[in-house]
Amino acid sequence: MKLKELESILQDCDVFESERAKLDEPKIEFEQYPTTPHLAARMLYTADTVYDDIEDKAVGDFGSGCGILSIAANILGAGYSVGFDIDPDAIKIAQENSDSFDVNIDFVNTDLSVATLDGFQGKLDTIIMNPPFGTKNNKGVDMVLLKKAIDIAGTSVYSLHKTSTREHIEKKAKEWGVTFEVVAELKFDVPMMYKFHKKKNVVIAVDFLRFEKIDNTE
Ligand SMILES: C[S@@+](CC[C@H](N)C(=O)[O-])C[C@H]1O[C@@H](n2cnc3c(N)ncnc32)[C@H](O)[C@@H]1O
Repeated sequence: MKLKELESILQDCDVFESERAKLDEPKIEFEQYPTTPHLAARMLYTADTVYDDIEDKAVGDFGSGCGILSIAANILGAGYSVGFDIDPDAIKIAQENSDSFDVNIDFVNTDLSVATLDGFQGKLDTIIMNPPFGTKNNKGVDMVLLKKAIDIAGTSVYSLHKTSTREHIEKKAKEWGVTFEVVAELKFDVPMMYKFHKKKNVVIAVDFLRFEKIDNTE
């Protein structure tokens, strides 16, 4: 599948205010900002074609929201896909999306900042995520979710983070014994979604990061 084709297919993914699921408000407390089809396609296409981390792999999506990253993984041939989100309404939309795309994805309603996910330990090769950035009342939640993803993933973790946090994350990756790579510098478009937004849209500089577990057994 070509990148442009994947992006075009993902345009049909419903986002947080879904008429079909009868939900009209995203929830700011969970930092619900959808990844655009443009970015989602590039993230998953790169993970698949450059790193071979998607096709035939078991892929987890942390903070899956409306499911766009899981759906992209599935379209690219993931062997198994599961999304985790704290918000049952988001899961409802994700489920509707996966039904209309006719893809098979499990969704788990859980708070990843406290869940142990024991049943998934060693079962997911790759974890992808666009986590809450921890800028509202939940400071630091991005790092809590990132550490959990690194603990659970068998091979690699892909995540989006504000470029301003790059040094801190690189230091943490060293501490956690995983590789750290800036795959791409992206512009994340935040549309006017919440009442406190004053501008039509704001662009945030984000890093698309890849972490890999270091195999010490050799
Ligand atoms: C920035 S949005 C990204 C949504 C989706 N992955 C996407 O790419 O469009 C972050 C998602 O994380 C979820 N979330 C926030 N805090 C969470 C937590 N503690 N545990 C699980 N999910 C959480 C939100 O409900 C939201 O769907």
